[in-house]
Amino acid sequence: MARLEIKGLSAGVRGKRILRGVDLVLEEGDSLALLGPNGHGKSTLLGCIMGNPAFEIYEGSVTYGGKDVLSLPVDERSRLGIFLGMQNPVEVPGVPSSDFLKAAMNARREKKLSLFQFIRKAEAAYKEVGIPFEMAQRNLNEGFSGGERKKNEILQMRLLEPGLAMLDEIDSGLDVDAIEKVAETILKEKDRGTSFLVISHYARLFRLIRPNRSAIMVNGRIVLEGGPDLIDRIDKEGYEWLRKEHGVSLEKIVDAPMNEVSIGVCATKEALDGK
Ligand SMILES: Nc1ncnc2c1ncn2[C@@H]1O[C@H](COP(=O)(O)OP(=O)(O)O)[C@@H](O)[C@H]1O
Ligand SMILES: [Mg+2]
Repeated sequence: MARLEIKGLSAGVRGKRILRGVDLVLEEGDSLALLGPNGHGKSTLLGCIMGNPAFEIYEGSVTYGGKDVLSLPVDERSRLGIFLGMQNPVEVPGVPSSDFLKAAMNARREKKLSLFQFIRKAEAAYKEVGIPFEMAQRNLNEGFSGGERKKNEILQMRLLEPGLAMLDEIDSGLDVDAIEKVAETILKEKDRGTSFLVISHYARLFRLIRPNRSAIMVNGRIVLEGGPDLIDRIDKEGYEWLRKEHGVSLEKIVDAPMNEVSIGVCATKEALDGK
């Protein structure tokens, strides 16, 4: 458990700026609802904190417990206690879920888990999250339904016991019963002292997990921070009031167009570099 501090973070993909100076602090034990219209950079922010190599960092810093997160490889970020439950978890063919989970758990321990200890912990977590334990033998996310993938992310969170859990639309694709189960697991992790940064479009999840703060991202910046009351307001009214009351433009900023197809081609890069 530690403090997360994001300062002036600008980042993007292939020269296209997505984050435009994000400032955000999560104190120990905070749980924050990250809100905002689609396509404005929420997932990008979480990806940058976790170290998704698709994103380029242009400016700014991220520290967790005083450590410079952006200078660390993904596995070290994970060992620091940072966890990302992805919006679209990827299939990992050839790697059984159980092997993946055991390796991830052991990577953070001095004393490795015995097979028996692992099975005991894993079985309890599968039960808690509501996934049949037989699925541990299947390759990670391969052929899993959308809902199964999401539950599997929560299962990983439970077993890895992070200090900071970032959950990206973890409730999408889940039925009401599954959302309740997922929320119960989140509440148990909260009781352990885990901080949460949670993206969702639905007040239902937030009502269950009761974040103490909220922040709204528009055009790659945090435009408003507040208490949990912002969640209900957005649920009822959408985002239009931000324009009237806070002068926030909701129009998506589109950078000067770059030729997406040819930008990766060396000849074009050289031309742009003036060679
Ligand atoms: N890997 C990527 N390659 C190209 N563009 C991306 C990539 N990831 C995100 N973007 C673009 O960045 C913008 C913000 O996306 P995202 O962070 O996923 O938004 P949100 O999570 O708020 O819906 C979108 O225009 C999206 O198309
Ligand atoms: Mg997203």
